Amino acid sequence: MGLSIHVGNLSKSFGNTTVLSNISLDIRSGTSTVILGASGSGKSVLLKCMSGLLIADAGSSVVIGKYEVGAFHISERPSPISKIGFSFQLNASFDSLLVWQDIMFNEFINETKEDEELIENAKTLLKMVELPPELAFTNSKQSSGGMQKRIGIARAIATQSTLLMLDEPTSGLDIETSEKIAVLIHELHHKMKYTVVSVSHDIHYTKTVADNIIIIKEGKIRWSGTIDECNNSNNEAVQKFFHT
Ligand SMILES: Nc1ncnc2c1ncn2[C@@H]1O[C@H](COP(=O)(O)OP(=O)(O)OP(=O)(O)O)[C@@H](O)[C@H]1O
Ligand SMILES: [Mg+2]
Repeated sequence: MGLSIHVGNLSKSFGNTTVLSNISLDIRSGTSTVILGASGSGKSVLLKCMSGLLIADAGSSVVIGKYEVGAFHISERPSPISKIGFSFQLNASFDSLLVWQDIMFNEFINETKEDEELIENAKTLLKMVELPPELAFTNSKQSSGGMQKRIGIARAIATQSTLLMLDEPTSGLDIETSEKIAVLIHELHHKMKYTVVSVSHDIHYTKTVADNIIIIKEGKIRWSGTIDECNNSNNEAVQKFFHT
């Protein structure tokens, strides 16, 4: 079963610029939530604060499972919050690593398993994200943007975390590949009961994976509800994203 997330009065400023103000939300374990919002509304910053990649302002609370994320130094976080599956909006891959090393980074760097086993795992993950297994032996940076996106998703899944946080997982992908990624994430959520939090502009992806929707505007929650409530809502913010 996936991990739950509690966010209480989360604010985040960079210098004098407040990006998020007083966000409170609860994500139940095993649910899939999609965060929608205009460009610059603070979605990526929210996802990074929720994962502990960014430290929110004093007074904010982020609890994953039973752990207050801010209570630990990033290098001292206990499992499971130390290895959340996170894929970045802009692909973050390692320049000098082969794709299999990149995907299996945690185990590769810790030398916990034989290379052969890691390569086999990476090939399986590549197939899951609709990429050819032979890609395992190339350098990530030689791949196209869409391929790097999928390598990033494979790396998030490779953590075997039951909490996946995916920032724009289908951006830059063609419709057919986007659909396959949406189905893969839906299956991980439904069959494996992972908790999934996605940021997306892709309404087809959203409709495929979401149980719940959160719409943020200018760093505040504008609307939240279930996908059914979303489909039946006349709310202006919902209409803007869902029915245009
Ligand atoms: N590290 C940072 N330092 C300073 N400002 C930042 C930083 N990260 C984000 N911001 C600012 O926070 C605001 C929200 O950024 P964020 O990346 O969360 O937007 P977004 O909703 O994800 O947009 P998009 O849909 O374009 O990805 C922007 O004004 C951005 O410039
Ligand atoms: Mg973003």
